Amino acid sequence: MKPILQVLDGQTLKRPPIWIMRQAGRYLPEYRALRTKAKNFLDFCYRPEMAIEATLQPIRRYGFDAAIIFSDILVIPDALGQKVSFQEGEGPRLEPVLDMEALGRLKSEVDLEHLAPVFETIRGVKGNLPPTTTLLGFCGAPWTVASYMIAGKGTPELAPSRLKAYADPVFFAKLIQRLEDASVAYLLRQFEAGIDAAQIFESFAGALPANMLKTYSFDPIRRIIARVRAKRPDARFIVFCRGAGARHDQVAKSTGANAVGLDWAVDEQWAATHVQSQSAVQGHLDPLLVVNGGELMDRRTDEIIEAFSHGPHIFNLGHGIVPETSPDHVERLLKRVRG
Ligand code: CP3
Repeated sequence: MKPILQVLDGQTLKRPPIWIMRQAGRYLPEYRALRTKAKNFLDFCYRPEMAIEATLQPIRRYGFDAAIIFSDILVIPDALGQKVSFQEGEGPRLEPVLDMEALGRLKSEVDLEHLAPVFETIRGVKGNLPPTTTLLGFCGAPWTVASYMIAGKGTPELAPSRLKAYADPVFFAKLIQRLEDASVAYLLRQFEAGIDAAQIFESFAGALPANMLKTYSFDPIRRIIARVRAKRPDARFIVFCRGAGARHDQVAKSTGANAVGLDWAVDEQWAATHVQSQSAVQGHLDPLLVVNGGELMDRRTDEIIEAFSHGPHIFNLGHGIVPETSPDHVERLLKRVRG
């Protein structure tokens, strides 16, 4: 049995299995070399032979316990017909969708044909993984994806989408609904293509006021998971609500997640008591500690492993690894986690 699936099923292992968010990325020289061969980032995501190679690079180099399909959460707005591009060094740019009229111009259902390269990537990776490596698919949660669709880019406090939720709640709810439906269809196809489990990225949970978290984050995620499980009862999910703070303890019971992703800001003693008592946990080393490396990284790694040693735990960072990270520090981290 694959160690990560054992943990998602609630087992406590002697050492936690490990993978790293954004493990296929610019900190790896082989990724940077591959990246130069694509016209742009979306082209990279939609060329299976390249996406398969990017997915496998960190597995070959480090032997992580999970491979995560190389793609992006913004392929969903793209497959709904919104204009999406990635500006070199600036991040994503989208043509903002701001009202019912603009929403009406998008496709009413996600174009799964457009996403066929992602499913081909999944099938291609599947045949090339060691038997103990879990294959993870993913999607963005509706609130996080809607925030990009409305603002047209990343914004520090999500003012455009928060304001839109207040000013035009009917439009906002329709957009969330569209994304919920798209995510269900997309994830079902990912499972059919061969993923073992899926992670839902709610990267901007921290921007939502507490009274809106249920309606716009937890409820849509819960419905996505329930609708996928209606067709695939054994589908396992990791839900990462970055910035959920003291509301991390509601994630599992509000969404049905098998594991709750913890960001680097959470207190692990608190999380061991209040989150890990209900579900597996995943996380949560500060990515900057891996940039820093050395004994401080070792010490924090040991502390995190110790804090979560009495229950199911997948070791990971508290957010994606950053491009400035030395690959040698990742090697050192892996040795430390594996003991
Ligand atoms: O290795 C993996 O984790 C799998 C691939 C993956 C990518 N993006 C590749 C990527 C995954 C799971 C994502 C998720 C994603 N994408 C999220 C949620 C996770 C998080 O970080 O909070 C978000 C918010 C996005 C949107 C996105 N994509 C942004 C904001 C950016 C630009 C910022 C940056 O890091 O440059 C991207 C581009 C992107 N997605 C890159 C990678 C490897 C870098 C682009 C490049 O190589 O040119």
